[in-house]
Amino acid sequence: MTDSHNLSRRDFVKTAGTAAVGAAVLSDSSISVAAPAKRRYAIIGTGDRAVTMWGRPLVQNYPDLLEFVGLCDINPKRVEVARQMLGVSCPTFTDFDKMLDQAKPDLLMVTTVDGFHSNYIARGLDRGLDVMTEKPMVIDEKQCQAVLDAEKRNKKNIVVTFNYRYAPKHQKIKEVLLSGAIGKVVSVDFSWYLDVYHGADYFRRWHRLKSKGGSLWVHKATHHFDLINWWLDADPVEVSARAGLEIYGSNGKFRAPNCRTCPHTSECRFFYDMKKNDIRMQLYAKCEDADGYFRDGCVYREDCDIYDTMGAVVKYSNGTQMSYSLNAFMPFEGYRLAFNGELGRLEIRDYERQPWEVEKQSEIYLTKSFGQREKIEVPEIAAGHGGGDGRIRDLIFKKTDVPVYMRLPDSRAGALSCLTGIAARKSVELNRPVRISELVSLPPKT
Ligand SMILES: NC(=O)c1ccc[n+]([C@@H]2O[C@H](COP(=O)([O-])OP(=O)(O)OC[C@H]3O[C@@H](n4cnc5c(N)ncnc54)[C@H](O)[C@@H]3O)[C@@H](O)[C@H]2O)c1
Repeated sequence: MTDSHNLSRRDFVKTAGTAAVGAAVLSDSSISVAAPAKRRYAIIGTGDRAVTMWGRPLVQNYPDLLEFVGLCDINPKRVEVARQMLGVSCPTFTDFDKMLDQAKPDLLMVTTVDGFHSNYIARGLDRGLDVMTEKPMVIDEKQCQAVLDAEKRNKKNIVVTFNYRYAPKHQKIKEVLLSGAIGKVVSVDFSWYLDVYHGADYFRRWHRLKSKGGSLWVHKATHHFDLINWWLDADPVEVSARAGLEIYGSNGKFRAPNCRTCPHTSECRFFYDMKKNDIRMQLYAKCEDADGYFRDGCVYREDCDIYDTMGAVVKYSNGTQMSYSLNAFMPFEGYRLAFNGELGRLEIRDYERQPWEVEKQSEIYLTKSFGQREKIEVPEIAAGHGGGDGRIRDLIFKKTDVPVYMRLPDSRAGALSCLTGIAARKSVELNRPVRISELVSLPPKT
């Protein structure tokens, strides 16, 4: 391994785990005049997210910074299709240890089904790698402790790729709150709407099982809870929640294993014709005989044990309280959010998809108490996750300068966002409020 290689590894850790502002994870040309060594990059879990977010854009945008050295998935067919989609020539594997032994990566991206993240994060850290993981970092408190312990024993910090923070509109909200315009935030109203397309899609796949995705309290809401923790600069303390499964799963009057084999397509309002999507046919249908994973699974399968209707009250370390709801069967997609402050209210209405025309995708208003309402302008970005996907990739792989509050999210952020959802899930199951301190012993805030 070259010196520049070692330097870039240290920079990765520094950027992820401390108040470092940049993302000098790959090289530092001010230190070495020689061409920086490319990071030896590997991916575990080669589904859609790996291909479209952590694969193809990296091949296209950072060819001088990264070398793909290995791809691994439990499905031997999918990993090969993914390799072809990326257009890389590295070997593919179905055995993770074999990939690490033979491909010798130094940077690992974890994009498997959620319930397996923690295992690969810990094994990657134990092998001395720099590790990045997709959200949610973990799906239960045991996994959470395992990741924190693995970091501690290896003296390394992971990056949890919370892309939502990097949408310009979300950065703007952070900046308005930091400016003190509404004073101390007393309470938050947050409602997230998943529509009959996107919401239903979670019930077609592994996400419908708590054992795989921790329920939408964790799989989906981890994004929202991370945003709130970051916006408020506070930790969740206690969660009380209620939830139900009202539309999908056993609520259906008929069912089949998946849409392509279903005799009820004409009467099912959730029928999804995957044959129209060539990429999904290649990546999933063509590979399903290897693992039985249907990308167009029936939303009414009776084994579904997650919720489609969720409401929670969360108390934070700074005294703020939030009322939060997540519904997965809405006629439109987006969210409503308001910060109620001592000096005013910051309100956001975000439209992602709806059966009517809107002028702007996001409307943000700041209203001062005893004062006027002001419209806050933000750039509209059509790219992935409101522009967050591209910005977090640049932050990780290029040497981009950002303010301290835009630093890369670490395991503490990964843990606290998941733990809010885990506490909510437990609160529903136990029918009582759940304190975060019951779940995991967390490192102090830095
Ligand atoms: N940040 C975001 O906005 C965002 C968006 C989409 C997905 N994601 C996350 O990305 C990850 C992947 O999601 P996806 O939509 O690509 O799912 P997917 O089902 O399409 O892909 C997951 C892949 O993991 C593989 N896999 C399953 N179990 C495995 C195991 N034990 N070991 C190795 N591989 C295994 C599957 O075969 C599959 O190829 C998830 O954690 C998801 O939460 C994040």
